[in-house]
Amino acid sequence: MTDAIEIADMSRHFIEAGLGWSWIPSRVACCIRGRNTVVVVAQINGSVAGFAIMSFAVETAHLQLLAVRPRFRRRGVGRRLLAWLEETALTAGTPLISLELRAGNRAALSFYQRLGYRRTGRVHGYYGKEAAERMGRDLWSMADTDTV
Ligand SMILES: CC(C)(COP(=O)(O)OP(=O)(O)OC[C@H]1O[C@@H](n2cnc3c(N)ncnc32)[C@H](O)[C@@H]1OP(=O)(O)O)[C@@H](O)C(=O)NCCC(=O)NCCS
Repeated sequence: MTDAIEIADMSRHFIEAGLGWSWIPSRVACCIRGRNTVVVVAQINGSVAGFAIMSFAVETAHLQLLAVRPRFRRRGVGRRLLAWLEETALTAGTPLISLELRAGNRAALSFYQRLGYRRTGRVHGYYGKEAAERMGRDLWSMADTDTV
C-alpha cells in the first residue's frame, strides 16, 4: 500500500493538478493487484523517482499515467519507464499503445513525440473543461523508430 499512496500522491500533484483527484490510493492499489494492469516504479537511492501505469486489452495497451518527480526529470527516468512498458507490451502481443495527456502539457507532448508517439486527435472536454491530446504508437511500425 505504501507504493499506492506515493503514486497516488504523485498523480495528484504532477498529473491531475487542478482537475480534482481521481487516482486515489485505492484505485492505484487495484491496478497493482490487477491482472490486466502493470504498475512500474523507478527508484533512485530508495526514493520513488517516477512511476507508470499501463493497462492491457486484447490488441492494445493504454498508458494510464506516467510521472517523474521534478528533481529527477531530464535524466532519462521517463524514457526508461516507458521503454520497460513497451517491452512488456511487445511480450504481451499488444503492440498498439495509446495515451491521453492534457492538451496544454507541452513538456509531455515533446517527451512522447521524442519517443515516437504521434498525435491521433484532440478530445474536447476529456478532463472536464480541459481538452486531451490523444497519442499513439505502433511498436511494430518501423516508421516510429526514431527514439534511440
Ligand atoms: C513528461 C515526463 C514524464 C518526462 O520525464 P523525464 O524523466 O523528465 O523524461 P526523460 O528524461 O526520459 O526525457 C526523454 C526525452 O523527452 C524529451 N523531454 C522530456 N522532458 C521534456 C521537456 N520538459 N521539454 C521538452 N522535451 C522534453 C527530451 O527529448 C528528452 O531527451 P533529452 O533530455 O535527452 O533532451 C515528466 O516531465 C513528468 O513527470 N511530467 C509531469 C507529469 C506528466 O506530464 N506526465 C505525462 C502525462 S500523463
